[in-house]
Amino acid sequence: MSTRDEETLLIVESDPDSRRPLVNFLKTDYKVCGAKSGKEAWAILAKEKIDLVLFDDGVPDIRGVEFFHDARVRYPDVIRILVTESRDLPDIVKIIKEAAVYQVIPKPCPPWHLRLLIDRALESRELARRHRLMSRELKFSDAAFRSHKEHLTKLIRDSYEFDKLVFASDSMLEVCNLARKAAATDMPVLIQGETGTGKELMARAIHGFSNRKRFPFLAQNCGALPDELLQSELFGHKRGAFTGAISDRLGLFVAADGGTVFLDEISEVSPSFQVSLLRFLQEGEVKPLGSEKTRKANVRILAASNRPIKELVEAGTFRKDLYYRLRGFELIIPPLRERVEDIPVLAEYFSRKFSELMNRRVAGITVQVMRHLQAYPFPGNVRELETEIQRMVSLAGNGEFLSTEHLSEDLAKVVPPDARLKEMNLINGAGTLKQKVERLEAQVVTQALLRHRWNQSKVAKELGLSRVGLANKIRRYKLAAAPSGGITHA
Ligand SMILES: Nc1ncnc2c1ncn2[C@@H]1O[C@H](COP(=O)(O)OP(=O)(O)OP(=O)(O)O)[C@@H](O)[C@H]1O
Ligand SMILES: [Mg+2]
Repeated sequence: MSTRDEETLLIVESDPDSRRPLVNFLKTDYKVCGAKSGKEAWAILAKEKIDLVLFDDGVPDIRGVEFFHDARVRYPDVIRILVTESRDLPDIVKIIKEAAVYQVIPKPCPPWHLRLLIDRALESRELARRHRLMSRELKFSDAAFRSHKEHLTKLIRDSYEFDKLVFASDSMLEVCNLARKAAATDMPVLIQGETGTGKELMARAIHGFSNRKRFPFLAQNCGALPDELLQSELFGHKRGAFTGAISDRLGLFVAADGGTVFLDEISEVSPSFQVSLLRFLQEGEVKPLGSEKTRKANVRILAASNRPIKELVEAGTFRKDLYYRLRGFELIIPPLRERVEDIPVLAEYFSRKFSELMNRRVAGITVQVMRHLQAYPFPGNVRELETEIQRMVSLAGNGEFLSTEHLSEDLAKVVPPDARLKEMNLINGAGTLKQKVERLEAQVVTQALLRHRWNQSKVAKELGLSRVGLANKIRRYKLAAAPSGGITHA
């Protein structure tokens, strides 16, 4: 059976004397429905699986361009062809663009010409479909790739995004919802969180979601510069204001006029800088070093800190009034270990990112790796996870899964919860006291061997055994190194 028999056309034309002959003419090749109004056409589209709509722009209840405008949203795969009286080229181009119409045909148009056009339109759609299928097959040529893709689709469906921030946890959803609200205002935002939790990414997202997005986003690390330099970086200076100031300098606040300035590591600034910043936040004016004149600068301040500012205020090293000013909105990004639900989506996201960058096919991430990742406390937060996955992708061969043998030493060492559960069962399961103790001992030795990648002197030292004592235990419990660096029980 040719695919052609299955393709269904809808001819929308108010004049029955034109519609009927055209429908009959096309019927030799296609299944054809006719409609005399927009209303009738919508009813048919809702009921039938239509492949192409030919709309004659003379129906009483709707203009073709409006009809196709809606059809594009409601039935995006349907090919749209418009027949019109218009000879006005700019108008035709406008229609093609606005409603993404495949072709606009001036009236009158002989039926054979229409049929040719319909043939070509359906052919090119079929080619595009096959191309899509083939490229998908090339990408995911075996079952592993297919199931990985399904898994990915599910993960992506279950995850959220805020600009470039990827997450699945409710706690991040809450922070991002607040950030969206903050983005709509001009108030300062204080973003706090441990190192690598995504504070800068969050600041960029807020700028990107604000109506300042067409103006600059300029970042300044406040921890990296001595006080005088930092002041001059932000407020600018006049020539000769201090040694080395050989010309006037426009500060960041003026350079970012209309946009956003991101002050990173705000906890590190000196008391005198705190005063200048507070003045700027109150007046919106900058006074370059060595100058008497002030100047307005319309910038929005976002600040970040990986030390809790509240504690610094209590300790008396950070001004309370500045803290309250900066804290128009306060966003606290939780550490990654407190939102383990984010780990799988981030791991998949980074694995895709780096496999694309390195032009490498990764079959997926094994369940065991995910368990290790989710059991690890990630002191370096998302940045550490990102580096870990980057490293794993570079170690994995083309088409391979990221598996435990690609894990870095710190991550390989962690004991995933299910292994911990097994340990518990070692004790809770059946057996005499001696058997239970022996099972536990075997487990302790196994873990230590894994942690030290079979370096027996290190293991013996850690467990307080002699080399011979350790060798005896290995023999007794029949432990052997697996090729992956893991352990097999002989
Ligand atoms: N939710 C996330 N989704 C995707 N990438 C993220 C996310 N969070 C962080 N990252 C990535 O992790 C890395 C660290 O993020 P970022 O520089 O924003 O952290 P930070 O909190 O500013 O760290 P630091 O305190 O050390 O300056 C970046 O490469 C960033 O792209
Ligand atoms: Mg940062």
